[in-house]
Amino acid sequence: MPGMVIVGAQWGDEGKGKVVDLLAEKADMVIRFQGGNNAGHTIVREGVHWKFHLIPSGILSPGRLCAIGNGVVIDPKVLTGELDELRAKGVDLSGLRISANAHLIMPYHMLLDHAGEARLGKLQIGTTRRGIGPAYADKAARLGIRVQDLLDEKILKKKIAAALEPKRLSLRPFAKSPELDLQSMTEDYLTYGHRIEQYIADTTRITWKTLDEGGDVLFEGAQGTLPDIDHGTYPFVTSSNPVAASAATGTGAGPKDLDEIWGVTKAYATRVGSGPFPTELDDELGAAIRESGGEYGTTTGRARRVGWLDLVALRYAARINGLDHLAITKLDVLTGLGTLNVCTRYRGVEEASFDAYPYHQTVMHQAAGDYERLSGWDEDIGDIRDERDLPQAA
Ligand code: IMO
Ligand code: MG
Repeated sequence: MPGMVIVGAQWGDEGKGKVVDLLAEKADMVIRFQGGNNAGHTIVREGVHWKFHLIPSGILSPGRLCAIGNGVVIDPKVLTGELDELRAKGVDLSGLRISANAHLIMPYHMLLDHAGEARLGKLQIGTTRRGIGPAYADKAARLGIRVQDLLDEKILKKKIAAALEPKRLSLRPFAKSPELDLQSMTEDYLTYGHRIEQYIADTTRITWKTLDEGGDVLFEGAQGTLPDIDHGTYPFVTSSNPVAASAATGTGAGPKDLDEIWGVTKAYATRVGSGPFPTELDDELGAAIRESGGEYGTTTGRARRVGWLDLVALRYAARINGLDHLAITKLDVLTGLGTLNVCTRYRGVEEASFDAYPYHQTVMHQAAGDYERLSGWDEDIGDIRDERDLPQAA
C-alpha cells in the first residue's frame, strides 16, 4: 500500500463498501474523506447484512482505526443512531475517530434540501434529501457548524444563530417548525456532542502518524466520479468531490501519500436521481437487470436507473482518478442475458461522435451510447473465486 484510495468509477453504488471491507482486513486505518449519509454502503459478512451511511466500512475489522475525515458532512443524529445500532450488535467501536473539523448537517439543511428540490419541480436533481448540498454550501459560505463547536454551548448557539440569519427568508415556511427553535436545536446538538465526545480527534495527525510509522491507510470514497461537483454531470451531481484527489484534502494527507488508487465499477451501470445517462436501458431488459441486481437504493430505497457499461465514462474515471486498479462487481448479474452491449463511443446530434467524455452539458444530455456487441455466457459464475475459471466471454 501504504496509502490506498477506493473510489467509485461510475455514479455511485458500485460496491465500494464490499471492496473496502475486503481490503480493510490488512489495513491499519480506514478513513472516509467526503460525502455524508447520502452514501449507503452494504456489506454482507457470513450471511449478515450491514448497512453503513457514515461509519467507515472498516469498522467490522476489530482493532482497526476507523475515522471520519474533515471532508465529510456529519448528521449527528444519524451518526449516533448508527453507533447505537453497532453497539447493540456487539461491534467494537474503540477504533472510531471523528474529525473535529468535519462539518455538521443541521435540521435547517434538510429542510432547505427538501425545499430546493420542491422548487425545482421537474428539473429537480433527485437528491437524497439528507441536507448534503446546503451543508456544503454553508461550509463554503463560512457559516458551517463543525464537530468541535458541539463542545461549547456559547459558541454553538452563536454560530447557529449566525447561520440562520441569512436563511430567514427561505426558512420562513418552516418558521413554526420546532426543529428550528434556536434553544432546543442548541440543546439537541450539545447532547449529540456529549455522545460522540470520546471519539472526537485530530484525524489528520492520526492519519500522518499511521502513514509515517509505515502503516496502511485506506481512504474510503463515497458516491462516484460522475456525481463529482467539478468533474461530473453538473448540476446533476452531489456537492462534494468524490474523486481520488479529494482523499488528500478530505483527510489532510498529502497528495504523495496516496500511493495506490482503486476504482470500483459494476459490470453494467446504474444511476439514482436525475441527469444524463447515455447508456440507460429504459425497457424490460433494464427492469430485469434491476431486479436480478437488486438495484434499489440503500439510503432512499429508490429504484436505480439501469444501463449498459459505459466505457467512455469509465476511461474518463480511470484518468481523472489516476486508477491503478479496477474492481469489477456484479458480473454475475449479466449471466444468461445473451448478447451484451458495452458503450465505446457517444453519438450526439447531427452524426456527432465522441470517444472522450464531453464537457458540455447540452452535449451530454443529447448523447446516446454507440455499442460494441459481445457474446454473453450462461454458466453460473457466482461461486468462481479465480479470474482464470471464468468463462471466456465473461
Ligand atoms: P454511495 O456512496 C448513488 C446522488 C443522488 C442525487 C445526487 C445528489 O452509496 O455510492 P445529494 O443527496 O448527494 O445532494 O444528491 O447524488 N447520490 C448517490 N447516488 N450512490 C450514492 O452514494 C449517492 N449519494 C448521492 O441520488 O442524484
Ligand atoms: Mg450505495
